[in-house]
Amino acid sequence: MKLKGKIAIITGGARGLGAEMAKLFALEGATVIAADMNDLTYEQDNVFYYQLNVTDVDNCQQLFNDVIEKYGKIDILVNNAGITRDALTRKMTDDMWDLVIDVNLKGVFNLTRLVGPKMMEQGQGSIINISSIVGEYGNIGQANYSATKAGVIGLTKTWAKEFARKGAKVRVNAIAPGYIMTDILKTVPQDLLDKFAKQTMLGRIGEPVEVANAALFLAGDDASYITGHVLDVNGGMRL
Ligand SMILES: NC(=O)c1ccc[n+]([C@@H]2O[C@H](COP(=O)([O-])OP(=O)(O)OC[C@H]3O[C@@H](n4cnc5c(N)ncnc54)[C@H](O)[C@@H]3O)[C@@H](O)[C@H]2O)c1
Repeated sequence: MKLKGKIAIITGGARGLGAEMAKLFALEGATVIAADMNDLTYEQDNVFYYQLNVTDVDNCQQLFNDVIEKYGKIDILVNNAGITRDALTRKMTDDMWDLVIDVNLKGVFNLTRLVGPKMMEQGQGSIINISSIVGEYGNIGQANYSATKAGVIGLTKTWAKEFARKGAKVRVNAIAPGYIMTDILKTVPQDLLDKFAKQTMLGRIGEPVEVANAALFLAGDDASYITGHVLDVNGGMRL
């Protein structure tokens, strides 16, 4: 029970990596608010659905207010909701650029600007931002996505400094997954997935639970002296 009594918000917690983290955190004793635009794809004790579009500032404020009113605190925030709209730069439309920036970058800001200061006031908290290997190394056809995921690393380091002021034990870290088998990879052709698998030291695409295990580590006290860090979970893809 590594998260006993903790209150956790996980955005994009309805499916994929967010669902895996929500289930694992709940099994480890947390009460989890899985905040997503879409309904949960699973049932798990102590995981509660909250309808949230991270791009909607009022919706974020309402979620924050409701969680504080009901539980009085927020111990863990995982900024996980994310989307792709891939195209080569010359073919990328304004809509594709704006939407990905809005969800993956501004969405992270929208909720964290409420939760981070609250954690400072509480004196403790753990924020985990889900970046990507693409934010670290770039990728053809993902100018919008890579910009957001690199941006999330910048936010992580900024907030690790900003929210730890005044003696607050607020830690902020990022996870940079490689290629993990979720719906987000559905549009990637199989031959490309096989190529990605071969590029890893472990010779395979990752499983969602492997990212969830990393998130559990960063969320809990086992990572009590780790902040401002970007944890690669990519099977050794870029070694
Ligand atoms: N799967 C991978 O290979 C991989 C690799 C690197 C990074 N990531 C990142 O991990 C995170 C989770 O990805 P995933 O693979 O589980 O994707 P997914 O598509 O399976 O799940 C994403 C979830 O986010 C939700 N969501 C989308 N837009 C939202 C919004 N505006 N407000 C609230 N919720 C919203 C969706 O409804 C969905 O439940 C994303 O940030 C993604 O960029 C994934």
